[in-house]
Amino acid sequence: MSKHNKLDTKLVHAGRHFRYTQGSVNPVVQRASSLIFNSVADKKTATQNRYKGALFYGRRGTLTHFALQDAMCELEGGAGCYLYPCGAAAVSNAILAFVAQGDHVLMTGAAYEPTQDFCNQILKKMGISTTYYDPMITEAIAALVQPNTKVLFLESPSSLTMEVPDIPTMVKTVRAINPEIIIMIDNTWAAGVLFPALQHGIDISIQAGTKYLVGHSDVMIGTAVANARCWDQLRENSYLMGQMVDADSAYITARGLRTLGVRLKQHHESSIKIAKWLAERPEVKAVYHPALPSCFGHQNFVRDFSGSSGLFSFELCKTLSDSELANFLDHFELFTMAYSWGGYESLIMPTQPHELARIRPAIERQLTGTLIRVHIGLEEVDDLIADLEKGFERIR
Ligand SMILES: Cc1ncc(COP(=O)(O)O)c(C=O)c1O
Repeated sequence: MSKHNKLDTKLVHAGRHFRYTQGSVNPVVQRASSLIFNSVADKKTATQNRYKGALFYGRRGTLTHFALQDAMCELEGGAGCYLYPCGAAAVSNAILAFVAQGDHVLMTGAAYEPTQDFCNQILKKMGISTTYYDPMITEAIAALVQPNTKVLFLESPSSLTMEVPDIPTMVKTVRAINPEIIIMIDNTWAAGVLFPALQHGIDISIQAGTKYLVGHSDVMIGTAVANARCWDQLRENSYLMGQMVDADSAYITARGLRTLGVRLKQHHESSIKIAKWLAERPEVKAVYHPALPSCFGHQNFVRDFSGSSGLFSFELCKTLSDSELANFLDHFELFTMAYSWGGYESLIMPTQPHELARIRPAIERQLTGTLIRVHIGLEEVDDLIADLEKGFERIR
């Protein structure tokens, strides 16, 4: 994790400008709808600079929002950062900002399920078509680009099965065909910092900040950091869609950044240790952790990422029956079941092969055993291993 050193310093200091902190360590929490102008001249200046950090109207943000937006731009190297009420809103609004009726979207077939549902239901209703690709497609993505393709959407690693696509090759291939295509990524797993998306030629890096940025499972927020060519369009479309976040959520998210470096180091270390332990278990067919060679695209992870976070999955040798699944999952002492991840606590979730096949029709590789996704939190690793070991005893 030596590549992290500079990042740790940035995470502590990003966005903490005096204008936002007013002399305290953290930004002020400025809750406001109305922002008052003292004169006609002030109103005019604020209007002219309403998307350049001026206090204009609550929906354009306050000092608290600006502090987080500046921090995210510093961390991800963007021209601007839009804040959304959750990650799903960040995904859908980023896509919507760049498509119109008759356009086409290239979407990873292993995307977070609601992202796929958004394409299948909302985009379809608007006359925008979607083609799903296998995340391991690499140069063959060229054959899927259409004259009306407007967006290439990536997610790395993939949801559930954790494939790590060869993003530099895919970006180069698509750019060579049509440089106008907007390339965006759901960069939540890497917390936007373990994979420098914009440095790899991606236009927009999206996160469910709900996960690692917040880090304590108590706030929902989405972020989209855009490069200079996309920022104006992303910002104005999202603004017209009424997207905004309350000041308290923005404050808590900015505070989460300050401990993100140490949290990620621990998620990295503990998740790899547990993944290696799982790989030795007779009940486990394969471990899909990007840092292990058994994960599809492991070589891409080694080349492109500076570390791992805490989410990965493993496939059991068999498909558990409903009662076996309940026996396995209902009695953990430390792992709890929940549809999220990225917090300080460990979580566990199952997916059966037929459920996975349903949400990944574009992907030929199919699983035969129950897939268990774990988020490795900040507990002592040996305690987590002991908890998992007892779980395996229950299904032996
Ligand atoms: C990869 C990924 N992207 C986006 C989201 C959506 O984030 P939110 O729940 O904040 O809407 C999630 C949520 O689980 C996710 O796992």
